[in-house]
Amino acid sequence: MAGDARHNVVFVLGPPGSGKGTQCIKISTEYGYIHLSAGDLLRAERQREGSEFGALIEEHITNGTIVPVEITCKLLENAMIASGGAPGFLVDGFPRNEDNLSGWDREMGPKTNLQFVLFLACPTEVCTQRCLNRGQGRTDDNEESLRKRIQTYNNQTLPIIKHYEKMNLVREIDTSADADSVYEQVRNAFNKANA
Ligand code: C5P
Ligand code: MG
Repeated sequence: MAGDARHNVVFVLGPPGSGKGTQCIKISTEYGYIHLSAGDLLRAERQREGSEFGALIEEHITNGTIVPVEITCKLLENAMIASGGAPGFLVDGFPRNEDNLSGWDREMGPKTNLQFVLFLACPTEVCTQRCLNRGQGRTDDNEESLRKRIQTYNNQTLPIIKHYEKMNLVREIDTSADADSVYEQVRNAFNKANA
């Protein structure tokens, strides 16, 4: 990436329906951090005419499995470059597994400064109901895909959160309450990180 200053990054992790996107929009409005959702970037790449990865991404999204990091990390880096300057980037829904983590550490680790990991924790039943009711027209917001996504989250993403816990980088917030009261706690975490 161009420039010499390392970009601030906050990873935002949590099960599907935990409110990652909702909270990121609020943070972005107040703090000027740029919201980069790995899932949104992959969906856009899936739709892009001439993309050689469309079919592969579609298969992973339907099955709730994780796209190879070479693809996702490149999309994130391109979006960071395209966005120009910002106080930081909210990297939402990444790193989701061991492959995501090692690929990021290799390619982006030296170019970025990981401030902390925002862990939005929420009971599975609450999350599932939110996804089934949110009506965003997503092909993976159905019971079968959700079961698979939650399985992937439990088996592959939780170990990544544990990895960052060992490094003392995790700020955990319970997101079963409404979005505005959750945000009060989220902003505490941000204010501490930027104090
Ligand atoms: O975060 P979101 O729920 O939008 O992700 C939707 C899907 O996109 C995931 O279930 C997964 O198939 C894919 N994805 C991925 N790698 C990521 C983030 C999302 O493969 N880091
Ligand atoms: Mg999302």
